[in-house]
Amino acid sequence: MRTLIKHALNSDSALPEISIKGWVRTRRDSKEFSFLEVNDGTCLANIQCIADTNVAGYQDITKMTTGAALGVSGRLVESPGAGQAWEIQVTSLELIGEAPSDYPLQKKGHSAEFLREISHLRPRANLYGAVFRMRSRLAGAVHRFFEEHDFTYVHTPILTSSDCEGAGEMFRVTTHDASETKAASYGEDFFGKATYLTVSGQLEGEAFATALSNIYTFGPTFRAENSHTTRHASEFWMIEPEMAFCDLEENMNLAETFVKYLVKDALENHQGDLNIFTKFIDKGLLERLRFVVERPFVRVSYTEAVDILLASGQNFEYPVEWGANLQSEHERYLTEEHFKSPTTVYNYPKSVKPFYMRTNEDGKTVTAMDVLVPGIGEIIGGAQREERLEVLEENMKAHDLSEKDYWWYLDLRKYGTCPHAGFGMGFERMLMFITGMKNIRDVIPFARTPGSCEF
Ligand code: 4AD
Ligand code: MG
Repeated sequence: MRTLIKHALNSDSALPEISIKGWVRTRRDSKEFSFLEVNDGTCLANIQCIADTNVAGYQDITKMTTGAALGVSGRLVESPGAGQAWEIQVTSLELIGEAPSDYPLQKKGHSAEFLREISHLRPRANLYGAVFRMRSRLAGAVHRFFEEHDFTYVHTPILTSSDCEGAGEMFRVTTHDASETKAASYGEDFFGKATYLTVSGQLEGEAFATALSNIYTFGPTFRAENSHTTRHASEFWMIEPEMAFCDLEENMNLAETFVKYLVKDALENHQGDLNIFTKFIDKGLLERLRFVVERPFVRVSYTEAVDILLASGQNFEYPVEWGANLQSEHERYLTEEHFKSPTTVYNYPKSVKPFYMRTNEDGKTVTAMDVLVPGIGEIIGGAQREERLEVLEENMKAHDLSEKDYWWYLDLRKYGTCPHAGFGMGFERMLMFITGMKNIRDVIPFARTPGSCEF
């Protein structure tokens, strides 16, 4: 519809003939005419179609109810009525698929919770149509960014035998049936060893970065963590760039440039959809997005961040002390209250971070970095990687990881090792930030969370 209308408007003919197919949003009948609002999901706006009672197909008009699929042919004309610039003067109507009166999206104003229960129909609601169009465009912008920066796109595996984060939050993949799972040894399973759905493509990404220099992955990742928050999903998409000959500073630069690029792209190219999010979801959205593009991010070390939190006088649920991980409440205090700006925190305590991060001179901290944004908290997590073979081996011992399992990862340090760094951006969290949507379940077409895997 979007393309067709654009095309028709650019043609010379004053009254272009067009035909569209879409779904009825509303219908209103008068004596001589019916007014149908039709939408095909390609853009937010409906097109108003005016059919007089003797056009072809009009005999089915009473079945052209909200939700019904419809074909419309007619002339596109400037609308004399208020509320729309263009309308279609119908020459023929075709009822393609009826929607009986129990169609759940009859009325407006359903709750987000109810709409999650009908995720298969939810994209037909205006707001969700806008969210999922934005999701598609954001994915496009991700690829454009990396193409413009000469990164190579790598497809890392979804089935894996290595736990990248070492946090033990993996879904096991097996061909044994439930009764056998416990008893059967991994050796007899499909791959002859324990296998899982990946939590991150980073380790395989590093193999490619130490060959092709700048690479990125963009794909689904899975975490069996029992987190019931508005920001955690069991299946989510992650973008993971990895750069050879790169240190923490350059890594932070890329992360911040990337966030700005995506926000700028949305502001410049998708104003229409952003307006609906601003109107219905978050009045401060546009202002916040502009702020992100215009201002530099704040950067603080973990140690400075802890000092700020300790001096804040806030009553946090989780106590703040040097050496403990920052909790979401701490992250949000820093970015929302203290700095009122996106904030990059770096050099975290070694003890709270995975084995692959590079140990700093002080021996106590690692070259980790997290990018925090208002309203969400952590949107990006990354690090410069430990490129020194002996130090990496020590770290693995400390994390109880077997060198045998990671033989290939160690080879990357044995042969032509180099400083390298990268990060992971949670795609849904970025989409939440850009749309202002408050729950990760509402920016994933079919969300998977603990206890919920419908559709
Ligand atoms: O901080 P995380 O765990 O980092 C990694 O996985 C690294 N291997 C990335 C790398 O360096 N290549 O996850 C990265 C990001 C987080 O900042 C967050 O935005 C998102 O992934 N994320 C989740 N998003 C939704 N649901 C979850 N359960 C998430 N866990 C992490
Ligand atoms: Mg993290």
